[in-house]
Amino acid sequence: MKWVLGIESSCDETGVAVVGYQPGTDATPVLGAHALHSQIDMHQAYGGVVPELASRDHIRRVLPLTDQVLSQAQLKLSDIDHVAYTRGPGLAGALLVGAGVACALGAALERPVLGVHHLEGHLLSPFLSADPPQFPFVALLVSGGHTQLMWVQGLGQYTLLGETIDDAAGEAFDKSAKLMGLPYPGGPALSKLADQGNPQAFKLPRPLMHSGNLDFSFAGLKTAVLTQVRKLGPELEARKPDLAASTQAAIVEVLLKKTLTALQETGVKRLVVAGGVGANANLRLSLTQACERRDVQVHYPELSLCTDNGAMIAMAAALRLQAGLADTRTDYGFDVRPRWPLDELTQAISI
Ligand code: KG4
Ligand code: ZN
Repeated sequence: MKWVLGIESSCDETGVAVVGYQPGTDATPVLGAHALHSQIDMHQAYGGVVPELASRDHIRRVLPLTDQVLSQAQLKLSDIDHVAYTRGPGLAGALLVGAGVACALGAALERPVLGVHHLEGHLLSPFLSADPPQFPFVALLVSGGHTQLMWVQGLGQYTLLGETIDDAAGEAFDKSAKLMGLPYPGGPALSKLADQGNPQAFKLPRPLMHSGNLDFSFAGLKTAVLTQVRKLGPELEARKPDLAASTQAAIVEVLLKKTLTALQETGVKRLVVAGGVGANANLRLSLTQACERRDVQVHYPELSLCTDNGAMIAMAAALRLQAGLADTRTDYGFDVRPRWPLDELTQAISI
């Protein structure tokens, strides 16, 4: 067994994990242990992520979390064979913390280091579940920063089918929630409130629903929510569950429609849903029911591994190492890619 240490620090969660893989086999790598520190409480006072505070907190957390993970997995630092970190996309300062620590550890241990694409981590996170998917599949990547439909033909072979032209689905949840006076991060708060509301109470737009392509747009929805909030005035408090339920229904309906179109157009019978919004119970229920009717197998990461974590980074690195597709470095130089399109990875491999 070879052990990969993975470090995630792209936004407001510090995640560390160890994943083990069997070289020369196609056995799915296994999670040794993972640990996470969420900065949500720290950023809540500001209503969103403060990048400089995020970087400083990653510095404080990353080594204690590494110690915790190693002791949980009953491993020593010297048992680690590779060190992986999130190279991008994400906040530049936050990414640099993980990259710097990973390269310092790699240099000290004399082990190869590799930078992982954060979205590839999300995309491959269902490999950490009891029922891992097989290639090919369509992936719906829905996080705070991205909303993409990806055709995944194999490891590192990603074709972008469509993406948001403005806000991401997670942003639509977060911004709408903020307008309703709900705490950051808005997604889970809005979704909880929506359970008590009527999804048909407010007529909200379904942007680009019938655009004929697989792109998304959520900025107009946020404006429509703002209009309703202003119209409601003092009545907002009493109508908040209805507004939350109507907002969630609009987001889920568009995500569902485009995902089903992507499955139909590609003819692929397997769907992977990943990223923070993939934790949304309403989205899961709608997709599961629709996929059942179409004989499509749907895979979700475990709920705790939907949002950012180190396990998905270590898993993506382990799968690449096992398949001989890892770009490892032993000069311990590094750069980060705050903006980094996922389909660039496909081109890199075909060179
Ligand atoms: O993947 P993630 O942790 O971070 C990024 O890579 O962006 O996703 C965070 C996003 C936030 O926008 C958050 O509000 C949303 O995922 N989220 C949810 C739920 N849980 C997290 N949105 C809707 N329903 C949820 N249950
Ligand atoms: Zn993420």
